[in-house]
Amino acid sequence: MPTTILVVGGAGYIGTHMVKRLLEEGLRVVTLDDLSTGHRALLPGGDLVVGGLGDARLLDGIFRRYAVAAVMHFAAFAQVGASVADPLRYYRNNVADTVELLAAMIRGRITRFIFSSSAAVYGEPEAVPIPETHPLQPTNPYGATKQIVENMLKDCDAAHGLKSIRLRYFNAAGADPAGGIGERHIPETHLIPLVLRAALDPSQPVSIMGSDYPTPDGTAVRDYIHVNDLVEAHMLALRALLDGCGSAVYNLGNSRGYSVKEVIETARSVTGRPIAVKAAARRSGDPAVLVADSSLIRRELDWKPAFQQLETIIQTAWRWHRNEA
Ligand code: UFG
Repeated sequence: MPTTILVVGGAGYIGTHMVKRLLEEGLRVVTLDDLSTGHRALLPGGDLVVGGLGDARLLDGIFRRYAVAAVMHFAAFAQVGASVADPLRYYRNNVADTVELLAAMIRGRITRFIFSSSAAVYGEPEAVPIPETHPLQPTNPYGATKQIVENMLKDCDAAHGLKSIRLRYFNAAGADPAGGIGERHIPETHLIPLVLRAALDPSQPVSIMGSDYPTPDGTAVRDYIHVNDLVEAHMLALRALLDGCGSAVYNLGNSRGYSVKEVIETARSVTGRPIAVKAAARRSGDPAVLVADSSLIRRELDWKPAFQQLETIIQTAWRWHRNEA
């Protein structure tokens, strides 16, 4: 029987890219997704179970029916602003429901877990690039939920031998260059899709949220990482866990920051279109600069990102959004 991977949230932006890659690798994939933000039509294949990750009976049924070798968890709510406005919704989905998922894994004796954590666990960085050893001091409920799950995973390893690799993503962006899948958030809040929407529709200028940050051009700096490079890191983490490695935590970024203005300039050059902008206030909870030190995963798992140039990342996103329009 081929190895089965359970992808929780497999119908979402990063999940669909992951499912595609796992299938290409010849693995059997079962996706659990409640389709609240994911899209059935974008799921590249494998089995789909529609339901929530907090549904203990549903989870027990999945673990009885499939010989699951590892679980990947992409099913968190991930908007900082929404987490500030409605924190309990975030704690319920990202923490309480994840407790049920982990409890079902322990009941089913499934001992390998790959967790989508976030740069949001660091809060306002004391220095950049940020190593994994940086203190965790999240500045919003979203980041707090990720930190809590990371702590739960450490405790579950000590108590139950549940091995986890926790991947702290910086800014996921881009789309599979082969086409067919990409980012479709409703509503969209992320910079690159909004910049490309402005390129497609001059009536929707992109807001530059804050021009008074302590950065060279006054706009906030982020470390953009291509979704396929994130997916490759998951493949390496999966192989490491299947080979019997212990629990670990890794940053995932390109260790190169780009400002909001640089993203817009690059998108103008990639699309060849004017992109209208308007000045807006800072978004609350946004740090000025987030750049990863990702040397640990390069060293320990031999991770080699293939799409390091911002221009390439935006090209792949542009192809997707143009086809979607
Ligand atoms: N921005 C704008 N205008 C917009 C949207 C965003 O200027 O219309 C700015 C933001 O203020 C920020 C940068 O562009 O400085 C990137 O914003 P995104 O919303 O694309 O991404 P974030 O850095 O806010 O969030 C990402 C992930 C989160 C994660 C966070 C870690 O999407 O899930 O990184 O801090 F929590």
